[in-house]
Parts: sequence; C-alpha cells; structure tokens
Amino acid sequence: MADSTLKEFIENIPKAELHLHIEGTFEPELMIKIAERNNKKIKYSSVEELKRAYSFKNLQEFLDIYYEGANVLITEEDFYDLTWAYLTKIHQQNVLHVEIFFDPQTHTDRGVSFSTVINGIYKALEDGRQRLNISYKLIMSFLRHLDEASAFKTLEEALPYKEWIDGVGLDSSEVGNPPSKFERVFAKSREKGFKVVAHAGEEGPPEYIWEALDLLKVERIDHGNRAIEDHLLMKRLAESQMPLTLCPLSNLELKVVKDLKEHPIVKMMDKNLLVTVNSDDPAYFGGYMNENYLGIAKALNLTKIQITELVKNSFKASWLSDSEKEEKIDLVNHYFQND
Ligand code: HPA
Ligand code: ZN
Repeated sequence: MADSTLKEFIENIPKAELHLHIEGTFEPELMIKIAERNNKKIKYSSVEELKRAYSFKNLQEFLDIYYEGANVLITEEDFYDLTWAYLTKIHQQNVLHVEIFFDPQTHTDRGVSFSTVINGIYKALEDGRQRLNISYKLIMSFLRHLDEASAFKTLEEALPYKEWIDGVGLDSSEVGNPPSKFERVFAKSREKGFKVVAHAGEEGPPEYIWEALDLLKVERIDHGNRAIEDHLLMKRLAESQMPLTLCPLSNLELKVVKDLKEHPIVKMMDKNLLVTVNSDDPAYFGGYMNENYLGIAKALNLTKIQITELVKNSFKASWLSDSEKEEKIDLVNHYFQND
C-alpha cells in the first residue's frame, strides 16, 4: 500500500485527548452567538477582533481573556452547545476518547449553579458517546489562584454528581500557587474516590512537579515541561511511567517555548518518559489534536513510528480499562501496519 503523507497519516490515526479544558474550546463564532442569545456584552464585537486579541505573552494574559470569554455561558444549553461543538470537531479528527476538564469555580463564582454547568456538559458527553462513539472521562479542576476554602466548597458541591466525575485536577495561575496549597483538598478528593491530576511545571519550577507527585499523589502530570531541568525528576518520571500531558501549540502560544523546535517532547521520549500530545485550549491556541501533532511532527521531524508511539501513549495514559486500552492500541497497530 502506498505510504500516506505525514498529514494524512496524522489525520487518520485513531487517538485520545487527555488534556483539554472545555472552556478553552469556545470558538469566537459560538461565543458571539451565545452572548447575543443571553444579552451579554463582550469586549470584542467581531470574530476578527476576538481572534486579534489572542496574542499572549504568558499564561496569565491568556487566562484573563479565557475567563472573560467564559462569562457569557449562563444556561445548561450553553454548556451543552460548547461541549457538543468540541465533540463534533474532534470526531472529524479521529479522536476516539477524551478526558475533559471543566472549571466549576469560573461559573459558580458568577452565580451559575454547579448543576447547570455539569448537566449541560454531561448531556453532551453522553450524546457524543452514543451518537459519535467517543468515550470520555470528566475531570473537575480547581482554580489554584483561589483559596483552599473555595476548593473545599467546590468538592462538596461535586459530591452529588460523583458518578459523573472521574477525577479532580488543578489549573489556572501556576507561579505562586504551588500544589502544597491544595494538599488537604486533594487528600479529601482521593478519600472520596476521585482520581487526581495537576498542572505542574508549565511555568512553575520542577519543585512543583515533585510536590504534585509527593503531596497531591497525582496519577498524571499536566504539562510537566520543566521536568527537563531536573535530572532526578526525569529519572523518577521514567521509572514510574508517570504520564505527562504535553500541549505543544499551547506552549508555543504562551511562550513556554520560543519555537516548537525547542519543545522537549523528543528528549523526553528518548529518556523513556510516557508523554502524550494534547490541545489544552484549542480555540485560543490555533489548533485541535491534528494540528498539534502536525506542528510537532514538522518542527522535530518526527517519524511515523514516533507518532504512532505518541498515539499509543495517549491510550496507555488514559483512564480506560485495561481491556479497552488493549482494544484501542490494537486499532492503532492495525492502522500503522496497513499504512
Ligand atoms: N494552564 C493553567 N490553567 C489553564 C490552562 C493552562 O494551560 N488552560 C486553561 N486553564
Ligand atoms: Zn491545561
């Protein structure tokens, strides 16, 4: 069979996404539509103006715009439409499984109830499972710039929906808000049966990754780029096969790397770390899964074998059952062999 081009190969290979903020999938067109529907004013009045505003020097500049965009989400239908738009998009990109973050405090702090948020997201995820055959896990993320009491309150609010929520995470402004700030909230979350992950080492130092591992006892590190600066940490991550959910286009747009050619993903693969490719906030960073794979593949001259390895990692690092993982990895192997 003729070898497909790299782009076709990436587009068609079955894959999983493990680091995705649903609020970060809010495309300007849908934002304007929902703002109008809810009689909400937004700072930027056209798609072009919104897109022009998406130029960030660092994580905080992005977060300021991201939280502002989320302000127009009010009703269950809004959260449904947001989630459904993402699912239909990634369905076209051959994403078979997603693990999605949502940030309840972004909404409950402005008077939108926890139930409104989760009902909308959950209904869309269930429709995606049934109509698009996309399996999913849902992760509730605490905002680390807020205090411990607010996180505890959010955990309480989540308990009636425990069956729908697979894990908890930690996101927002990293520097100055170390994982240790949430040690007790994560202990309680684990006690309640949630799996735990945390953003660490995106802008924050390697010490924050150590804290996420040792104090929060995470099962996966979101980002983790700065592990590359710490030899012992790299060894620990490799030996434990602790997954890292890397986000190449996010790193480029938030100036975590100056150029995709400097991205640590290949160095990490060479050191036997379990790394994965993800989109983080695709509406803001210029690409969904396939664009992330293609960006990194071109910049770092990845081979089809390396891309296949990354895709297999995405299933290995997921929260699917062992038999589901095996089934998906068989599909990937089959795809690779028939290319
Ligand atoms: N880092 C921290 N918080 C976030 C991010 C991110 O990349 N995206 C959405 N919230
Ligand atoms: Zn993220």
